[in-house]
Amino acid sequence: MKKILIKNIKELIQVVDDNRLKTSGKSMAELKTIPEAYLLINGDKIANYGSMVEYNAETHADDYDQIIDASNRMVFPAFVDSHTHLVYAASREIEYIDKIKGLSYEEIAKRGGGILNSAKRIAEISEEQLFYQSFQRLKDIIAMGTGAVEIKSGYGLSLKSEIKMLKVIQRLKEESPLTIKSTFLGAHAVPLEYRGRQEDYVKLVVEEMIPAVGEAKLADYVDVFCDKGFFTVDQTARILSAAKAYGMIPKIHANELDYSGGIEVGVANNALSVDHLEYTGEKEIRNLLASNTMPTLLPGAAFFLGMVYAPARKMISAGLPIALASDFNPGSSPSGNMQLIAAMGSILFKMLPEEVIHATTINTAYAMGVSTMLGSISKGKIANIIITKPMPTYHYWTYSYGDNKVETMILNGEIIDERSLKR
Ligand code: NIG
Ligand code: FE
Repeated sequence: MKKILIKNIKELIQVVDDNRLKTSGKSMAELKTIPEAYLLINGDKIANYGSMVEYNAETHADDYDQIIDASNRMVFPAFVDSHTHLVYAASREIEYIDKIKGLSYEEIAKRGGGILNSAKRIAEISEEQLFYQSFQRLKDIIAMGTGAVEIKSGYGLSLKSEIKMLKVIQRLKEESPLTIKSTFLGAHAVPLEYRGRQEDYVKLVVEEMIPAVGEAKLADYVDVFCDKGFFTVDQTARILSAAKAYGMIPKIHANELDYSGGIEVGVANNALSVDHLEYTGEKEIRNLLASNTMPTLLPGAAFFLGMVYAPARKMISAGLPIALASDFNPGSSPSGNMQLIAAMGSILFKMLPEEVIHATTINTAYAMGVSTMLGSISKGKIANIIITKPMPTYHYWTYSYGDNKVETMILNGEIIDERSLKR
């Protein structure tokens, strides 16, 4: 097995040695780091870490395949991005112009733009082309520090196109070094041909799409856009229970446009996460506190659409954990850059850098069901590691929002270079 030693690390960030699966409330402001550190990778796992003083005091076999000197550089666990729609066929900057001129997200959707526009493009594109485009996006997010990503369907809105998207995600799982989870989001919008017959579309999702997706084992999770103008609480509950029969755990789009009841129906169905949450009040907070569901905020979408911001500080003060994901998609968050999302956590949500680091690593890992193996520097976890460019302090991580601060990415214990991502 290949052994890599990273030595002279200026500061090793987000060390977790207590087996926790998420970080909540006040603890989010506490971050364990080791100044002047080393990290040892054995095969695809983190084998050991500690301070250089300790390292120098011990005797070592020195049988490393590679030694990296990380002087002036920091080491972070790679970002985990637990909410994206990065398999899509075309960007939608045309609607962006409408948006600039003042149309709302809901108005654009009503005119057949938005998600329906993306669905039209998915119907037209070949699986091969869709794979190729999506693979390029994966390369881009790796270069920005992401090591694991959840990807949703939901731009298909027909059995054939939803399967096309999920097959592409399946192939991305097989061919990219990222850890990927797939989510079936057939109930993302009502397609044009079902206008005025929303119940018939829900029936299609429940009776045809879910069995087909479930039997082909094409999705780990199930999602519904449970919000004003999209799907109701009752429809959401029916879709979630149909998906449960195939082992698909819920991750819900909730409370983005209104107090939609999405949080409650997610919690009632043991959702792994409920996402967006701009409209979260006392009742929703109490509901979440009594659950194992990860509240996930998507600042990119609220920023891009000019919407209200989720009450992150209130949620943390109440003792909740918070995850921050990109929502990378062509309509409401056209970026998968988690460094930017991290900065937005501090700028828009007033989260401390320490809180943001938990929110973009261990808590997003929890939100995509992988926090036993990813999301922190812990012995035995998968070696998904960022070596930064020279950085003054770790606070700089959420302060500097324009530049790529990643110098080297290691995924599954392998250094990522252009060759390993060839396609
Ligand atoms: O998470 N809110 C619903 N769905 C996506 C937007 C999808 C789109 O506009 O294409 C979101 O923001
Ligand atoms: Fe989304």
